[in-house]
Amino acid sequence: MPHYGDYQNLIYGQGLQGILPKVPVDFATMEAAAAKAMPPYLLDYVQGGCGDEATQRRNASAFADWGMIPRMMIDTRVRDLSVELFGMTFPSPLFMAPIGVTGLATSDGHGDIAAARAAAMSGVPLIASTLSNDPVEDVIAAAGETPCFFQLYTPKDEDLAQSLVARAEAVGAKAIVVTLDTWVTGWRPRDLNNGSFPQLKGHVMENYFSDPVFLKLLGKPVEGNRQEAVTLWASLFGRVLTWDDIGWLKSLTSLPILLKGICHPDDARRAVEAGADGIYCSNHGGRQANGGIAAIDCLPGVVAAAGEVPVLFDSGVRSGSDVVKALALGARMVGVGRPYYYGLVLGGAEGAAHALGCILAEADLMMAVNGMPTIADVRREGARRLD
Ligand code: FNR
Repeated sequence: MPHYGDYQNLIYGQGLQGILPKVPVDFATMEAAAAKAMPPYLLDYVQGGCGDEATQRRNASAFADWGMIPRMMIDTRVRDLSVELFGMTFPSPLFMAPIGVTGLATSDGHGDIAAARAAAMSGVPLIASTLSNDPVEDVIAAAGETPCFFQLYTPKDEDLAQSLVARAEAVGAKAIVVTLDTWVTGWRPRDLNNGSFPQLKGHVMENYFSDPVFLKLLGKPVEGNRQEAVTLWASLFGRVLTWDDIGWLKSLTSLPILLKGICHPDDARRAVEAGADGIYCSNHGGRQANGGIAAIDCLPGVVAAAGEVPVLFDSGVRSGSDVVKALALGARMVGVGRPYYYGLVLGGAEGAAHALGCILAEADLMMAVNGMPTIADVRREGARRLD
């Protein structure tokens, strides 16, 4: 039975023939290589965060404050990293977090399709962002058999919200992820110093520009009226959601609804009471508010408050060991953001699949060495805070 960890055998085998990985295997080297390949405005947008970026640095470094004790004399030759969510079985607990400028990651401008192809290759589901260079229909189709979710930036116009969700559902999305923390953009000095916000240049608008409700509101074709279309988009973006809106959100779809951006246990409790199907603990990678607490440090409280409701997690995941720690702290599935983006930049769909494959290989080998052949074993052992 093949295991994710076998990927290292392939790499070492190729090394014997003088072939080295085209895309580095670790995040730091990958990020440095991608930084050289990206236009400066895009690098700042992707790599940058809110304020002095303390929160996003802490998101990643805080994983070092958690540790796991290895267990010995357990046969881990056969391992199973599969997880269940909403009645589906996924081969691993990893997923690709929604990234709104994925379209720009590849030189052909179709990075969203490349990310979906990486999902098809790796079996790692993609959460397709509302902000996309290709319409959701094409993105989800490119993921083949791998299930995808759709991330909703809820527009102010209710008919447009309904239309975006209905389109995602019609094309086979398996859940709707509603992002709660981005009705307004956080203070991002790098982008402000560049005077650059990609959406205002007309990038990643295709879900809107292909939408019948949006086109009706525009009242003219996008072609020849692009700037007007972008202005309309800006006026519609960012509905302020409150707990009273959950009923309305649920009325839009029969799919499970996950609430993205929950970090406080009380909010997790309210989400459960309000009928959320899943909770997504994340601080948007430190891009939205520079509050200073790492998302991973919020995860245990959110998991405890969520009870039986599944908790997805992202923010700061850079390696397989980060993934295993997040699982040990109770995440049902763990999201990767910037690492797959840099993989896309360096090697397209194959590069992103490689980035995911490396993270999964490290996670699998950590479980093999630490005597934890299943995710249930990881959860039972848990992680300890190092003081
Ligand atoms: C994001 N993120 C995001 N989230 C979301 O719900 N919709 C979106 O369109 C985007 N867009 C986006 C763009 C860029 C450039 C980044 C880096 C992130 C947040 C994303 O889903 C996730 O929460 C973070 O990426 C997690 O942080 P790390 O692990 O990438 O640092």
